[in-house]
Amino acid sequence: MTDSKQILVTGGAGYIGSHTCVALLEVGYQVVIYDNLSNSHEEVIHRIKKITGKNLTFVKGDIRDKDALKECLANYPCDAVIHFAGLKAVGESVEQPLKYFDNNLVGSLRLLEAMQESNIKTIVFSSSATVYGNPVYLPFDEKHPLAPTNPYGQTKLYIEEILKDIFKSASDWQICILRYFNPVGAHESGLIGEDPQGVPNNLMPFIAQVAVGKRDTLNIWGRDYDTIDGTGVRDYIHVTDLAEGHIRALEYLKDSSKLLVANLGTGKGSSVLQVLNAFEQAVKTTIPHAFKNRRPGDVAEAYANTFIANSLLKWKAKKDLNSMCRDHWHWQQKNPNGYNPK
Ligand code: NAD
Ligand code: WQD
Repeated sequence: MTDSKQILVTGGAGYIGSHTCVALLEVGYQVVIYDNLSNSHEEVIHRIKKITGKNLTFVKGDIRDKDALKECLANYPCDAVIHFAGLKAVGESVEQPLKYFDNNLVGSLRLLEAMQESNIKTIVFSSSATVYGNPVYLPFDEKHPLAPTNPYGQTKLYIEEILKDIFKSASDWQICILRYFNPVGAHESGLIGEDPQGVPNNLMPFIAQVAVGKRDTLNIWGRDYDTIDGTGVRDYIHVTDLAEGHIRALEYLKDSSKLLVANLGTGKGSSVLQVLNAFEQAVKTTIPHAFKNRRPGDVAEAYANTFIANSLLKWKAKKDLNSMCRDHWHWQQKNPNGYNPK
């Protein structure tokens, strides 16, 4: 990068956001994190500075507060926005759909209004493979029908649709919608990583908490799927590879107006037992587990076609499952209680 651009990172104190801020700072961008800390800790800001040796701006605020967003953008003029802020717990979204529509959908509307009124028209948006719903075919490419099966996924789909309509109405926008598959792992320093509140829903944080002794047993949801070993298959992607995808997205957008939708995954599926096995190798011990019935709503297999990201973003995931497990374990070992010192 030649000129030093400033990026507003909503949700930048969160799991994927913090790794992306490290990547941005390392290639010379200036970073303004805007986060209400509803699912993160201010300690993350210190850790990002420690890893990079660089300074950044942190503004505590809610994306639903347009005035606060505009004030932030007036105080810290930005060239582009990377929009991570959102709630992401699928089960909670089924129980409290309004909370998700308010936070994710209304929040994104207020952000887009604040951007328009501040004359910022470049955005990279965190969408999810969850917008595809049940696979009609695999691997999922970006043309696969979109049919999310829960309110969380609906919020992602609606925001995607809003972004597409904005582009139709005013084609001077530069928009990249990134559909992440299953982000795991942590920065190799072990200073930042995923810090789930309460009982983790996702596989790797759960395995990590069993390995560190915080939970007794991993429940494996289903061993009768039509997969390599009967357990569910997903496309796990190292969070630092994912972070790099955002740098490529900004580079792709910089020259001209465009709208791109791209999957970010490895293109390779791994089963629950393969993940467990790789994690056991990282920990160098066995991890107690038990087979249970299938989890409602789960599909047998999900993995990405990554052609668009490979060819247009010039991006490819580099790290394998062993690195993902090693780095996730390193973070968990160094921070058994996450960012909470107790
Ligand atoms: P995260 O919860 O760690 O990070 C989200 C951040 O947004 C948190 O720091 C939280 O405090 C902040 N936030 C939430 N609501 C806000 C609001 N109203 N105003 C300001 N800040 C707010 O989650 P993550 O795993 O880093 O996910 C980042 C994004 O990527 C989310 O939009 C998520 O839906 C999406 N995504 C995540 C995954 C995944 O498995 N982790 C997969 C696909 C997509
Ligand atoms: C992976 C596999 C489980 C936990 C979810 C969201 C999705 C996305 C990522 C944001 C499955 C099995 C899990 C456990 C298990 N997030 N499993 N025991 O379901 O692919 O996706 O997170 O956009 O929206 O739905 O990921 O990590 O929950 O599950 O056996 O304790 O591990 O059945 O096969 P999933 P996951």
